[in-house]
Amino acid sequence: MGRLIVVSNRVPLPGKPSDAGGLAVALRSALTSGGLWFGWSGETSGNHVDLEAVKSRIDGDVAFSVVDLSEQDVREYYFGFANRTLWPLLHYRADLMEFRQHDYEGYRRVNRRFASLLSRQVRSDDLIWVHDYHLIPLAEELRRQGLRNRIGFFLHIPWPSPDVFSAMPRGRELLAAFEAYDLVGFQTDQDAANFADCLARAGRGEQLKNRIGAFPISIAAKEFAALAAEAAAHPIARKLETSLRGRKLVIGVDRLDYTKGIDRRMESFGHFLEKTPSAKGNVVYLQVTPKTRSEVPEYANLQRRIAEIAGRINGAFSDLDWMPIRYLNRTIRHEALAGLYRMAAVGLVTPLRDGMNLVAKEFIAAQDEEDPGVLVLSCFAGAASELDGALVVNPHDIEETAAAIAQAVAMPLEERRRRWRAMFDHLCSNDVVVWRERFLNEIGPSRTPRLKAAV
Ligand code: F6P
Repeated sequence: MGRLIVVSNRVPLPGKPSDAGGLAVALRSALTSGGLWFGWSGETSGNHVDLEAVKSRIDGDVAFSVVDLSEQDVREYYFGFANRTLWPLLHYRADLMEFRQHDYEGYRRVNRRFASLLSRQVRSDDLIWVHDYHLIPLAEELRRQGLRNRIGFFLHIPWPSPDVFSAMPRGRELLAAFEAYDLVGFQTDQDAANFADCLARAGRGEQLKNRIGAFPISIAAKEFAALAAEAAAHPIARKLETSLRGRKLVIGVDRLDYTKGIDRRMESFGHFLEKTPSAKGNVVYLQVTPKTRSEVPEYANLQRRIAEIAGRINGAFSDLDWMPIRYLNRTIRHEALAGLYRMAAVGLVTPLRDGMNLVAKEFIAAQDEEDPGVLVLSCFAGAASELDGALVVNPHDIEETAAAIAQAVAMPLEERRRRWRAMFDHLCSNDVVVWRERFLNEIGPSRTPRLKAAV
């Protein structure tokens, strides 16, 4: 039987300290039966990178194969086309999109190099599963190398409607590149439908028909629940618990990104404090926000804006022995984070747009079934189409979000249990293994690539 080869932009090498995000954790779970994981090491080696160099590591049944990128690659491919063009546009932020032809060429160049290095490691019966927007043209490049393997693609972020996507320079080329895949997966039915509409508008609807689907990503729910139960004793969880002195905890955990709606969320929390006198001195909001992609100007601006809002709200409401917002620009390791989620009375997951948002799922899995917390969830997160026990809000509506925080803080135990139980049961029967199996069954061992070797 052939191997599963997972390809993603970043590959967290075993044994290296990593702040593995949801995508990395999910892909590690997808490889529980073994396979190969190929991608960028996360390292940059000047401008004279050895184009042929591949570093390999083995961890149990999983082989890791990574390459370094040159500074130019990182600038053009990662910070450029992937994160200044695709990322904003696919999150419906055409206003923030910037396009430069040389970034696009860098994006294609890195995909070509990945394909050339990966193709040497591929056996004829391997199944290749490509992840996320950094690597859309990878299958097209692999086909050019002569590969006829089954190749699937999964997009972790949203796909917008044709009106939004029409702003994408080289949009038709990108849509055409998807035709080299045997299966193209999205987080939600809406994303899949938007993609099909974009194809139809570009006159390419027929080519990918029946090869598009929604496969909502998930977490290892039971394992995360067990981790959270143990994590209550983690030194970081205990430190926080001691410092809370019985106050209720509201928690938000997001990469510093304009799609996450952290600024509006803080404003909503400020509004909640204003409207709820009993919260003063009794509720603490912890926002954990590691910085990312800091070379993209929007991210640095956002950092300043959020720090200002936190400072303003703390200035207005703090007392000598209480500060309402604790804002941390650092990563907290998964095993400790699980304990913090469990301790929280309210989880705030209010992105302006998000493919899925695995924090929402982890927050639910981490709860104590006897005394579960409440999830306040944006209607624009993919998770909202599954987690129907959450308090669903429009994150642009600060008053509505503030009211949901108040409702969550005051929610009676019976209602909390009822809402949580439905969501936890759903996560247990729709976990990351189910996600992987659904995708791999759909692409199927008997499936033969319908495309010519050279596209
Ligand atoms: O889910 C979107 C995504 O871009 C993933 O591909 C990535 O693992 C994660 O966000 C973190 O992004 P970055 O690698 O740019 O820090």
